Amino acid sequence: MSAEPILRTSKITKGFFGVQVLKGIDFEVCPGEIMGLVGENGAGKSTLMKIITGLYTNDGGEIIFKGAPVFFSDPGKARDIGISIIHQEFNLFSNLSVAENIFLDRKEFRNRLGQVNWKKMNEEARKVLSELGASFDVTMPVRMLSVREQQLVEIAKAVSTNAQVLIMDEPSAALPDNEVQNMFDVVRMLKQKGVAIIYISHRMGEIEQICDRVTVLRDGINVDVLDMKTRKIDDVIAQMVGREIKDYYPHTSREPGDEILKVEEMSGDGLKNISFTVNRKEVVGLYGLAGAGSTEVAEMIMGLRLMPSGTVLMNGEPVKKNAIEASMAAGIGYVPPDRRQEGIVVNMPIADNIIMANLPKYIKKGLLDFKKIAASTAEHIKELALKCNGADQTVLSLSGGNQQKVVLSKWLDRNPSMLILNEPTRGVDVGAKSEIYRLIDELANSGLAILLISSEVPEVLGISDRVLVMCRGRITGEYKNENLGQDVLLKAASGTTGGDGNE
Ligand SMILES: Nc1ncnc2c1ncn2[C@@H]1O[C@H](COP(=O)(O)OP(=O)(O)OP(=O)(O)O)[C@@H](O)[C@H]1O
Ligand SMILES: [Mg+2]
Repeated sequence: MSAEPILRTSKITKGFFGVQVLKGIDFEVCPGEIMGLVGENGAGKSTLMKIITGLYTNDGGEIIFKGAPVFFSDPGKARDIGISIIHQEFNLFSNLSVAENIFLDRKEFRNRLGQVNWKKMNEEARKVLSELGASFDVTMPVRMLSVREQQLVEIAKAVSTNAQVLIMDEPSAALPDNEVQNMFDVVRMLKQKGVAIIYISHRMGEIEQICDRVTVLRDGINVDVLDMKTRKIDDVIAQMVGREIKDYYPHTSREPGDEILKVEEMSGDGLKNISFTVNRKEVVGLYGLAGAGSTEVAEMIMGLRLMPSGTVLMNGEPVKKNAIEASMAAGIGYVPPDRRQEGIVVNMPIADNIIMANLPKYIKKGLLDFKKIAASTAEHIKELALKCNGADQTVLSLSGGNQQKVVLSKWLDRNPSMLILNEPTRGVDVGAKSEIYRLIDELANSGLAILLISSEVPEVLGISDRVLVMCRGRITGEYKNENLGQDVLLKAASGTTGGDGNE
């Protein structure tokens, strides 16, 4: 690229508690360029971005913006001069309005007495959103918006100050597959305007599709910058994990065992007559686009959502409705998609999170058996290759993908006989993803029944024995996973096949 970088870092170092995370990072991005930033979970991508925007302080090295060294004492200061960040986890205030969220800490809408000029602020918010192609009510509280709309608010907040550099830390992780393309339209528009974009993602398909160049971080060093005009995504992956991944989707061919879960005529809350079974020693993929209803199915099975009608049976016995304890006692485990909301308590240590759903196992004579806790936790950390400083580290300070592994460990610790995994690899790096797939395969081989809810077609096809497809609250297809094509699933998911899915 011939253009001059607008933002560059030189020899950035950073450690946490004596562990060196960044060991001298050189990084750059040019105006009108989309620079990908990839690396395994815990590689330091988010840390580098937090340093650039002044949320963390670097131990050594420099940040150079438009040719001059800069230092920001907080993200507000970075944004004021044109560097904005959309964090991995949204930072919106759910009870405040869209407009308030966009202009939260900005002074220009207040008079000398500190009173807010609401009319002007709402108008300005409308303007920023319409430039992004969005037109929803800016006076609405953010909690009423869909995830995509919330993300647009985040983007609006970031670009409302004339951002020249926009950092997007896994922007697609929270989005359903079918909405990623809409986000790309917004990203491309910003690129056209000359904004320099830093795009972090674990989805290699997205990196391939949108990035001009890609910087790879590994072991605290920037190992390569690949120009995507001439390089392939496989080169990126090989650089990232330091090896080629063979057998990315391990899938043992196995004979399923007896039926364990049976769902009969589950209806209500958008669902229409959902009936299916899952056997021991079987991975059943449940594929659907956003709003298809697969999460509702999982939550009703688990007793987390009121089931207006229908029956859930485990081993032929009806499970008490709407009671999570009953579902857990029947041997069902559930890994939810949004770990921040439902999976784990982020400010508690790894160990506490793992044992939380399974306390009785760790109580001996009325006291917690710390030895046993330490032993189990160590085993889980090893089993899932969880990258941490020890079982006492708080989950909050783990990288995104490693947080997901804690959620998985928590449920595996209960030795369930049936496990429902809802988007288990969201935000997980390619290397760790393949470890999770291997684990799922092994668990199924050992007799576990697994319902895998996923909106990623390659994943569903890669590891399922059987696939169910949902569309608008119905099951629109059921297939044995033998020579099954992507197109078949996509068709069934959009409701364009016959089946029983037509309204
Ligand atoms: N506040 C913190 N305290 C202690 N350790 C931290 C803190 N923030 C990050 N780390 C550690 O620094 C390392 C890098 O984390 P970072 O979040 O930057 O990774 P990442 O590349 O963004 O990973 P992911 O792809 O999973 O989001 C991790 O090992 C993490 O545990
Ligand atoms: Mg991160």
